[in-house]
Amino acid sequence: MPCQSSEKLNEVVIEAKKFTKYGKVADYIPALKKANPNDLSVAIYQPDGTCISAGDIKKKFTLQSISKVITLALALIDCGEKFVFKKVGYEPTGDPFNSIVKLELNNPSKPLNPMINAGALAVTHMIKGHSIEDRFIRILTFVQELAGNSNVAYSQEVAKSEFESSFLNRSLCYFMKQHGIINEDVEELLDLYTKQCAIEMDCLDLARIGLVFAMNGVEPTTKKRIMPAEVARICKTFMVTCGMYNASGEFAVRVGIPAKSGVSGGIIGAIPHRFGLGIFGPALDEKGNSIAGLKLLEILSTKYSLSMF
Ligand code: DON
Repeated sequence: MPCQSSEKLNEVVIEAKKFTKYGKVADYIPALKKANPNDLSVAIYQPDGTCISAGDIKKKFTLQSISKVITLALALIDCGEKFVFKKVGYEPTGDPFNSIVKLELNNPSKPLNPMINAGALAVTHMIKGHSIEDRFIRILTFVQELAGNSNVAYSQEVAKSEFESSFLNRSLCYFMKQHGIINEDVEELLDLYTKQCAIEMDCLDLARIGLVFAMNGVEPTTKKRIMPAEVARICKTFMVTCGMYNASGEFAVRVGIPAKSGVSGGIIGAIPHRFGLGIFGPALDEKGNSIAGLKLLEILSTKYSLSMF
C-alpha cells in the first residue's frame, strides 16, 4: 500500500520547519555538508500496514548513529546479552557522542553504553562473519529485512568521506585496543563501521524499521519475527536512555518515546505497540540531533499524547 500524504502531519512539518534556521548540517564528515538544511520529512507506519507522511519522503539519507541500534540488535543475537555487556556498559554518559573522556576515567576501561561512538565501535567489533565484507553483508541484510526493502544499499561516497576523516574514531579504537575491548585491525573495523553508518534509505524505510522495534521484533503485516522480543526491548531501552546522547533526559521529558538520532539528520522512533516513525531533517542542534526533527516530535507527542511516561 502506498504511503498517504497527510494534511494534519503536513501542518506539523510546516510548524517544525521554522526551526531549521537555528541549526546547521554536519560538516565533520565532508560528504554530509551537501545536505539541504531546509529539508524536513516524516513517515509514520502503523501495525495494520497503513502509512502517513509529510514532506519530501523520497529524499535519501545515511543512517549514521541510527545504525548503532541495529548493530546492537545484531550483536545481541550473535553473542548474547552477557557477552555484549561485558565489553560495553548500560549507562548514559552526559557527554557528546564522540567523547573519549569517560574511557580513561573508568577502570577497567569500558565504553559506558552502545550508543556513543566508542560503544558502537565495540559493538560493531562483535558482529560475526568470515571477513569485513561478510560482516557488512550481514549488517546490510539485517537492515533490508527490518525495512522490508531489499534495495537498501550504502553510500560509497559517504563511507569513504567518513573513513578518510575519522581521526577521533580511530583514536577511540586504538584506546580500546590497548585496553583489550577490541582486538581486530583498527582500519578494518573502521571500514566496517563507516559502511554501516553510510547505509542509505528514506523516511519510509526508517519508519518500517521503527515499527519492528515498536512491535517487539515482529513485522506486523507478515507476522515475521526478525529479532527476539528481548533484543527489541533492550534496544528500545537504550533509545530512551541514550538515544539523543546528552539531550536524552530533556527528550524524555519533552517527547517521551524510544528514539535514536544520526548526524545526517535522521531520527527513528518506535512507539511501543502503536507505530514506527522515520524523520529526516539535516539541520542539527549543537548536540548533533535534528533540530526541526526534535521539534516535530515534541509537537506530535503533545498533540497525540505519545509519551510513555
Ligand atoms: O561515528 C560518527 O561520528 C558518525 N558516523 C555517526 C555519529 C552520529 O550520527 C551521532 N549522532 N547524532
